[in-house]
Amino acid sequence: MTILVTGATGMVGRHVVVELVKTGQRVRALTRTPSAASLPDGVEVVGGDLTDPPSLEPSLDGVESMYLFPVGRRARAVVAAAKRAGVRRIVVLSGALADTDDSEDGYLAVERAVEASGLEWTHVRPGEFAANWLDSVPAIKADRVVRRPYGAAVTQPIHEADIAAVAATVLVEDGHAGRTYTFAGPEALTTVAQVNAIGTAIGDTVRFDELDPAEARAEWISNGYPETFVDWIFTMWAESARDPAPTNQQWADIVPHLTGRPARTFTQWATDHAADFR
Ligand SMILES: NC(=O)c1ccc[n+]([C@@H]2O[C@H](COP(=O)([O-])OP(=O)(O)OC[C@H]3O[C@@H](n4cnc5c(N)ncnc54)[C@H](OP(=O)(O)O)[C@@H]3O)[C@@H](O)[C@H]2O)c1
Repeated sequence: MTILVTGATGMVGRHVVVELVKTGQRVRALTRTPSAASLPDGVEVVGGDLTDPPSLEPSLDGVESMYLFPVGRRARAVVAAAKRAGVRRIVVLSGALADTDDSEDGYLAVERAVEASGLEWTHVRPGEFAANWLDSVPAIKADRVVRRPYGAAVTQPIHEADIAAVAATVLVEDGHAGRTYTFAGPEALTTVAQVNAIGTAIGDTVRFDELDPAEARAEWISNGYPETFVDWIFTMWAESARDPAPTNQQWADIVPHLTGRPARTFTQWATDHAADFR
């Protein structure tokens, strides 16, 4: 059977491809720019654009299962094209906060489009990606500093390879139809602890400069982050700094339960990305 991976050149999608290749699956990868895909040998790379469903036809031919990168309101047309082509199973990359965003481009819109298709579905809802720290690469590289508010805020970051391992498992294994898996990394850590772990991984000190929230808000907005996003994330961090949650064990248990392997720690993630930060 052929498995189509959309978002195959993305942070998670690349690992989904690698996981599937490792277990001997026939993998087709979708990208808008096949010449730049740089995916493992043996992977069939096909061009197509998720915002242009007719362009997906060549990639869908003969596909049984599909990993769907979240495409908001476009999901309905993409899923219809998949159904016409004979796809039977769709695994949706969604997010742990799916239920908090009912907008037409939110994760729920994608999940609902897939559910309404009548195809077999599984929703993969990871929490905060450890890879969000890659936004701090320029400041860490240049000045060995992270400048942010709410150093005491706690998150439970997850390694992109573990998200992919969960997705790959439910793509190939039976028994996950109609299931929604909400999960996160193995432990809750403060922002400062995560900065320190990056420092340890690169063998240098990375300073945490705690910014005043109002000053940081203005800076983020002037750097191009949408106001609604900044307010949303700052509110979450403020609440978490005030009342830090312990590790959500139910979320932490999903990766080992589904993949049979321990979840990668944040220290592991920082080590895997040390070269990015150096
Ligand atoms: N950051 C978090 O904490 C977090 C938490 C939960 C969920 N999420 C969700 O996870 C997703 C990000 O996943 P990721 O990091 O693996 O992706 P990513 O690194 O942002 O890469 C985006 C991928 O999507 C593909 N893509 C984008 N637009 C496309 C289009 N019109 N047609 C075809 N392919 C298209 C790109 O392929 P080409 O450029 O090669 O065409 C690329 O492979 C987001 O939806 C995000 O909201 C994030």
